Amino acid sequence: MKILETIAAFKAERDKIGGSVGFVPTMGYLHDGHLELVRRARAENITVIASIFVNPSQFGAQEDFSSYPRDTERDLAMLEEENVRLVFMPAIEEMYPQGFSTWVEVEKITERLEGESRPGHFRGVATVVAKLFNIVQPDSAYFGQKDAQQLAVICRMVSDLGLNLDIVAVPTVREPDGLAMSSRNIFLTAEERKAALVLWKALCLARGHWEKGQRDVASLRQEMASLIEHEPFANIDYISIADPETLQEIDVIDSPALVSLAVRIGGTRLIDNTMLGV
Ligand code: PAF
Repeated sequence: MKILETIAAFKAERDKIGGSVGFVPTMGYLHDGHLELVRRARAENITVIASIFVNPSQFGAQEDFSSYPRDTERDLAMLEEENVRLVFMPAIEEMYPQGFSTWVEVEKITERLEGESRPGHFRGVATVVAKLFNIVQPDSAYFGQKDAQQLAVICRMVSDLGLNLDIVAVPTVREPDGLAMSSRNIFLTAEERKAALVLWKALCLARGHWEKGQRDVASLRQEMASLIEHEPFANIDYISIADPETLQEIDVIDSPALVSLAVRIGGTRLIDNTMLGV
């Protein structure tokens, strides 16, 4: 496995690779969710390339860029174990050199949910992902369904800009009790870790009611909210039941629906989602 820190060095190695390339972009602090992306990429391609870059432009001024968990040595050992061929690990100045002034803005679907709670977040994500795609030149790129809106934004960008790659959505990997794996779970205290399960419980509650025939979104949302409000560590940021492609809120579930939520558990903001009707 080769670790490349500059675009020039990376491109020199990339040029030597023939056959299909699967790409897994990450911000590091890897967990089984990331490894699932790598394994899927390996199953479907001859070569797997990963990147590790904590992208400052997708964090707001008050967000956790500086405290975002990092453990590069461990990440690299995990990627090596999974037979990743190249790891692109640029410094901030390599990705955003002096004078950098070109940004990718995906409109409409970025206006709500994560986009509303985290202004500028998707501008940072779309820009860095577009730049990584240009550098890595993958045939396919792998993203987790846990970040459902990110996935929708990237699919929109790829389609709108006619980028020549496939985006592969990989199901969320969960802890045995149901908590979605996330690099930010490390911030939870033991008590908060227990409380964090309320996200998964709320999604299961919605699914349970839907399976029994409930189609009214306001009632489902209300049920979810009252479950979460009973958890003292939890503070709801949003609960959404929306069209999975446009992310517009719906009133009645009569076609596939994305149920997503963002909840603060103590100081840690967690997101999760499930699809109904697929
Ligand atoms: O999902 C992430 O880890 C990041 O948003 C990504 C896609 C690597 C871009 O920085």
